[in-house]
Amino acid sequence: MLAQAVANLGLGALGAQTFAAASCGAMRHFTTASELKRKLTELIPGQQERLKALKKTNGSKSLGEVTVDQAIGGMRGIPGMLWETSLLDPEEGIRFRGLSIPELQEKLPGAVPGGQPIPEGLLWLLLTGEIPTAEQARSVTEELRARSHLPYHVFKTLEALPQDAHPMTQLTVGVMALQPGSRFAAAYARGTHKSRYWESVYEDSMDLIAKLPQLAASIYRRTYRAGQYIPPSHDLDWAANLAHMMGYEDPGCHEMMRMYQTIHSDHEGGNVSAHATHLVGSALSDPYLSYAAGMNGLAGPLHGLANQEVLRWVKELTAKLGPNPDKDAVRKYVQDTLASGKVVPGYGHAVLRKTDPRYTAQRAFAQQYMPDYPLFKLTSHLYEVVPEVLGKTGKIKNPWPNVDAHSGVLLQYYGINEENYYTVLFGVSRALGVLSQNIWSRALGLPIERPKSMTMESLEKRFAAAPEAAK
Ligand SMILES: CC(C)(COP(=O)(O)OP(=O)(O)OC[C@H]1O[C@@H](n2cnc3c(N)ncnc32)[C@H](O)[C@@H]1OP(=O)(O)O)[C@@H](O)C(=O)NCCC(=O)NCCS
Repeated sequence: MLAQAVANLGLGALGAQTFAAASCGAMRHFTTASELKRKLTELIPGQQERLKALKKTNGSKSLGEVTVDQAIGGMRGIPGMLWETSLLDPEEGIRFRGLSIPELQEKLPGAVPGGQPIPEGLLWLLLTGEIPTAEQARSVTEELRARSHLPYHVFKTLEALPQDAHPMTQLTVGVMALQPGSRFAAAYARGTHKSRYWESVYEDSMDLIAKLPQLAASIYRRTYRAGQYIPPSHDLDWAANLAHMMGYEDPGCHEMMRMYQTIHSDHEGGNVSAHATHLVGSALSDPYLSYAAGMNGLAGPLHGLANQEVLRWVKELTAKLGPNPDKDAVRKYVQDTLASGKVVPGYGHAVLRKTDPRYTAQRAFAQQYMPDYPLFKLTSHLYEVVPEVLGKTGKIKNPWPNVDAHSGVLLQYYGINEENYYTVLFGVSRALGVLSQNIWSRALGLPIERPKSMTMESLEKRFAAAPEAAK
């Protein structure tokens, strides 16, 4: 039955061949001297010199003190990592290589005139720090298309899972099924010189980014559409192809997917999925292992899974209060959520202190494409009430909405109703940021991560012995 479904995908012969090869531990590989890789080869020596000079001139300077509260409190605010692809300002939000989301929307090439940027252009920007021309962005689309083949054994691996396994579990398992094809792991085993690690990490990262849309769409189709897979289009860009393989052809949905995949890609290095990828990559685990670690973090409800939780919470709200609840009823509902010891999903942030610009970008999209959609209206209504209630608690540092408060509305509008799947779409996007940084981490020769931990006893003794010095 699976063989038939994969044959329907148009990969029959190819799939069977690849399956045979994969059974012997081998995978078909697209090897490239792509425009993007050539560009990186040019840029890397200069950045290596820059890092050397930074260390020489400023290596011994202090970045500030660390309090006991910070050590206990999830290391918030402790600067302790190099992350080149993006930087988060608490007030202003994220900047990708120095560009805000509106600037990305203005400057990056799109698929339609005046439309949303294509994520391939963002990938070029994240990797090179430069805004690509339309041709350069197209070269990335082509490179990814050439690498996109998903081996048959990946379908077989997914089929071994219960159909109702959480889509994020299926994503990680699918990624791990691709890991035997890691070119970095093979290069390391061959004894490749460390100055060349980045090259095979690049190959793995691009292979993985290329295969993720079909992997993600296959998870969607097997879980919610009885395994009726849809073959990739050879004309569509990376994000639109993902929507197409999931079964969505509305041009508005394709534009939404381009925006969604662009804005979820990167949020500097300290968030759970980025940091987990970075940490595991620092042990020279290959990009498949590192990204899978990040995805297991993204699957947590305080992080990426919050987008699923938002929908669940909103559905419960409408079931209880009806589709158009008044402000007092919503206020009471939020208060009840807090009183029951739960968080209000989609609100708050560990770093941001204002409305997330990723929320604002999605709101602007909704205003353009679905101004009268009732769920959008309800989301706007929540925006007017929730921050006020959270703010009154006095303890929540940021009562404003984050990215997850809005993404589900856009997906629901186009008919993607299965909220348990939403974090997979977030995860596909996140690959662009965390794998770009991972390539740079190897190119810059960043070392294995090893922060210091402490016991309560060691802290107590330290400050009991020298209370004054502790201030
Ligand atoms: C994102 C989040 C984990 C950040 O946590 P944080 O850095 O600890 O946030 P704060 O410093 O403001 O937390 C202080 C207190 O307010 C609570 N708080 C923060 N956001 C809250 C929310 N949306 N609803 C209820 N309580 C919240 C915290 O749980 C914490 O309570 P505690 O002292 O009893 O443990 C948190 O805001 C949250 O859980 N939000 C909801 C989940 C979500 O949307 N996640 C996606 C983030 S992009």
